[in-house]
Amino acid sequence: VKDTYLNWFGLAREGLSLTVENAKEYRDIDRIVITGMGGSGIAGDMVVLALEDYAGMLGFVSKDFSIPSPLVNERTLVVAISYSGNTRETLFSLEQALRRTSKACVVASGGKLIEFAKSRGIPYIKVREGLAPRLALPQLFTASIRILKEVGAVDIVNAVSRDLEVLRETRRAMLDAESLASFLKEARMPLIVASTRYQVLAMRVKNELNENSKMPAKVEIAPELFHNDIVGWERKVFSDRAVVIESDLEHEQEYLRLYEEVLSSIGFEIWLMRLRGDTRVSRILYGSLVAGLASVRIAELVGVDPLVTKSIASYKKFVTGEEELIRRSLGLE
Ligand code: PA5
Repeated sequence: VKDTYLNWFGLAREGLSLTVENAKEYRDIDRIVITGMGGSGIAGDMVVLALEDYAGMLGFVSKDFSIPSPLVNERTLVVAISYSGNTRETLFSLEQALRRTSKACVVASGGKLIEFAKSRGIPYIKVREGLAPRLALPQLFTASIRILKEVGAVDIVNAVSRDLEVLRETRRAMLDAESLASFLKEARMPLIVASTRYQVLAMRVKNELNENSKMPAKVEIAPELFHNDIVGWERKVFSDRAVVIESDLEHEQEYLRLYEEVLSSIGFEIWLMRLRGDTRVSRILYGSLVAGLASVRIAELVGVDPLVTKSIASYKKFVTGEEELIRRSLGLE
């Protein structure tokens, strides 16, 4: 598992050169909506962030059984990302969205989603098989960037390929991860804090701790946290450990420090996640690498298998059993 993280640069580069099957060029796209869950959904979040930073474009990620209908019309490109290709939320969302737009594309390693794309003539990229979805993050991300270019939606390949360079800093990432793992291994439910612009990374850190380390974690985002969460600490009921993700903006650093003071005053211990890279995308890639490596190190320290996610598997089994009911309530019969 650790070696896969250490090979993220290679995986990411590979994603940029994968073949688009059923290739076609769409015209008149003015909105990109991505559907995906868990690790695949985070890849979607990163695509949206890159669209914002490099194309000045607002994208949306939907993480449900259907995409809110006002988001989808004939000028919308829907991108379905699912590593396994079998995630029901993503499959149903795509199927339903195709009633409102004819423009879609798919990124998956196989499964029903690839079958669906083949049968409907939808452009798709098949990513490398045999990984846990969360480990495939960089390839899901770059393959999505590639397909967006190939279908004529937006070309941000060059900017993203520059960002990938940060993933070569594996030695530094290992040191940061070791320090983070020893800080977090005894936490009960660590608090992961970031500014809104780094929310995707905070979620990613939480998800990696949940899935690889089998550890609960809570995310709080500033400045919103100053309007609610901060009051929750007034009773000083307990303290734990917090990871604060640094920002590249000075005023955000200032209010993150203010929150750190509040947490310290009630006994929290704080670990500051320093990021590498000179763009938001590269910094989030670096932070994700550190989080991934730290989460597998914690798994090792506490004696759990990072790859096994029993609870996700049993949820997926439950949803498969409910498939007919879900299809009926979504009007997909
Ligand atoms: O990382 C994981 O294993 C999960 O979060 C999955 O990504 C999530 O369950 C969705 O599955 P998939 O990525 O195959 O669509």
